[in-house]
Amino acid sequence: MNTPLIDPFARAITYLRVSVTDRCDFRCKYCMAEHMTFLPKADLLTLEELDRLCSNFVELGVRKLRITGGEPLVRRGIMEFFRAMSRHLVSGALEELTLTTNGSQLKRFAGELADCGVKRVNVSLDTLDVAKFADVTRWGRLPQVLEGIAAAKAAGLRVKINAVALKGFNEDEQFSLTEWCAAEGHDLTWIEVMPMGEMGEENRLDQYWALSDLRARYAARYSVSDLTERTGGPARYVRLEETGQKIGFITPLTHNFCESCNRVRLTCTGELYMCLGQEDMADLRAPLRQSSEDAVVKAAIREAITHKPKGHDFDYSRRSVEGQMRRHMSHTGG
Ligand code: GTP
Ligand code: 5AD
Ligand code: SF4
Repeated sequence: MNTPLIDPFARAITYLRVSVTDRCDFRCKYCMAEHMTFLPKADLLTLEELDRLCSNFVELGVRKLRITGGEPLVRRGIMEFFRAMSRHLVSGALEELTLTTNGSQLKRFAGELADCGVKRVNVSLDTLDVAKFADVTRWGRLPQVLEGIAAAKAAGLRVKINAVALKGFNEDEQFSLTEWCAAEGHDLTWIEVMPMGEMGEENRLDQYWALSDLRARYAARYSVSDLTERTGGPARYVRLEETGQKIGFITPLTHNFCESCNRVRLTCTGELYMCLGQEDMADLRAPLRQSSEDAVVKAAIREAITHKPKGHDFDYSRRSVEGQMRRHMSHTGG
């Protein structure tokens, strides 16, 4: 029996986020530069290599696998990978297989995802305004995403909408987005914009909208009660009594949740990032390609976990960009 993965701060690592591609069909301004240079195909782990790596993590006690990107559903053959991973659900080794997507390809894939044992999807949607959507994603088509979300619902998947809170962009949509989610039966989570990627034309500091302000605005309009439950993710939840809705807040900046961190992130090139907000990573591709022994891969994973830091260093309070990561969110998959 393999002993589970425990990091230096006694946190059990049971959640693996896997970015299967750095590519995306959108270019959200807070996530990617307009002109991205994508990785050469040869650098990417093949789907078989990803399977082998993920399966080793599952054998080491990972219970939740979230597939991300870039946009995971633009990776060729991605459904074969989901089908392969679903065997760990069937065996009971894995509790949850899920994904975070921009929704653009959901119309095509929702049914197959449900067949693979996926029960819920997180869809990024920051605005319900066609023009604003096209602006923030640089060319995305809102109706395509709404059709994808509807297809997911029709396939029996639970949908959680992720909205990045952006000052001057979607402040005026706090309630319309909330009411749309309530009517459609979707959960909604707001995310504080994190200082990732190049500063370029936009400074994340200027876009930063503290979620404490959103919460206060909810409280002025609805009866809001705090919920103590967690989903194994970083969100904290409130309930709006009038709609019965659960609203999540992911607040890495104002309410650090690192003390209960249970996750690590694997990139599509086999780098294992121990923290979203730190540069430290371990290369798992080399041991994977050098040896056919899974014991070698597991030893590399264990070694990497001994470097997991206590938490991230993002800090807007210094009103500086010291905490700005050069890495784009699309590289590590959010
Ligand atoms: P569930 O709780 O299972 O729904 O998932 P989740 O919230 O962990 O996953 P999701 O992909 O929806 O995460 C939403 C966003 O939360 C990510 O894209 C990140 O922006 C942020 N996030 C998730 N995990 C972390 C983390 O460990 N650290 C930081 N700083 N941000 C995180
Ligand atoms: N800050 C916060 N969230 C971000 N995402 C992408 N870039 C950022 C950022 N700089 C979110 C997306 C999506 C998830 C994959 O990551 O909106 O929900
Ligand atoms: Fe693509 Fe998601 Fe990044 Fe937008 S946030 S560019 S949809 S990966």
